[in-house]
Amino acid sequence: MRILSIETSCDETAIALVECSGGLKNPKFKTLENIISSQIKIHRPFGGVVPNLAKREHLKNLPKILQKLKIKNWKLKIDAIAVTVGPGLEPALWAGIEFAKNLAKEIKKSLIGANHMEGHLYSNWLPKRSAVSVKRLGEKKSLNAIPSTLYAIQFPAIALVVSGGHTILLKMDSLTKWKKLGETRDDAAGEAFDKIARLLGLPYPGGPEIQKIAKRGNPKAVNFPRPMLKDKNYEFSFSGLKTSALYYVRDNPKTSVADVAASVQQAIVDVLVGKTIRAAKAFGAESVLLCGGVSANRLLRETLKKESGKIGAKFFVPDFEYNTDNAAMIAAAAYIQHLRKKKLKLEANSNLGL
Ligand code: KG4
Ligand code: ZN
Repeated sequence: MRILSIETSCDETAIALVECSGGLKNPKFKTLENIISSQIKIHRPFGGVVPNLAKREHLKNLPKILQKLKIKNWKLKIDAIAVTVGPGLEPALWAGIEFAKNLAKEIKKSLIGANHMEGHLYSNWLPKRSAVSVKRLGEKKSLNAIPSTLYAIQFPAIALVVSGGHTILLKMDSLTKWKKLGETRDDAAGEAFDKIARLLGLPYPGGPEIQKIAKRGNPKAVNFPRPMLKDKNYEFSFSGLKTSALYYVRDNPKTSVADVAASVQQAIVDVLVGKTIRAAKAFGAESVLLCGGVSANRLLRETLKKESGKIGAKFFVPDFEYNTDNAAMIAAAAYIQHLRKKKLKLEANSNLGL
């Protein structure tokens, strides 16, 4: 099944074309096109995403991106269209939904509404370059001949979903059956990165900026709190960390921004990794999955990989092109939903959850 997918929930306008096959036990995805047009420059002067500006840009970008598809006669080659219906910014979501509805009508294809958070979760099933590089590094076996268990995600799995709007820990018993163990009580991890970056005078979005400047800093320079790390639950809270950073910068005006950034990054990573590994141990997880925009953070990826290895769990994280918002993950979510014969209403639902 070939799906043309559309993602406009926040400040990235994205369209992908994904070939989906296999059943719920072993879904397979081949990304034929994955185009992302970022609006970061437009929102940057405002220090965050302005919903109506995002909508205007999505409406402008969508037809342009569609023209960029390299596959000829794609309209004849696709089986369905998918679009994100939530969660996200309502005006931004509507831009994609209306566009997708018109396109589906024009080319007479069915339209599947998809959940953005399921997209992040299923981005772990999208193809991996790292798998391909095994072949390139001179292994005798071709990729197909390598036992599928080497790359397959096994259950039970613990998934940490960390984006700009969400921080959720899930226990997955299968591709479609999971339990939410906990989530953030206030700011999401990405939001904490963004807000702390702002008070350090760094541009939006803050996560990549903090990562960049942290390279030059000492992660032990400031001993910021590790909120809720020791609590015997799977909840998170990051707003206190932001307040600590605010007071620290106010009381130490000559402090090095790189040191604060490195210390903040370390504190966030310690909490995310600590709680995820505790859950993985408690539930005997075979696999640990990381996804959402914050999964682009190198320290987080590396630390979680190392700690998962120590407890004998396999670690999975999507390739960089699928960490932050993209439409390939929306095709994956739509396909799995199609296999489950589940339907979401084709209207914006800004609070849709997992
Ligand atoms: O998943 P995403 O693209 O959008 C939402 O669904 O929210 O996540 C965006 C978030 C932003 O808060 C951004 O600062 C954060 O992901 N982010 C990072 C990094 N790259 C993006 N946070 C830390 N380190 C990064 N390298
Ligand atoms: Zn997202």
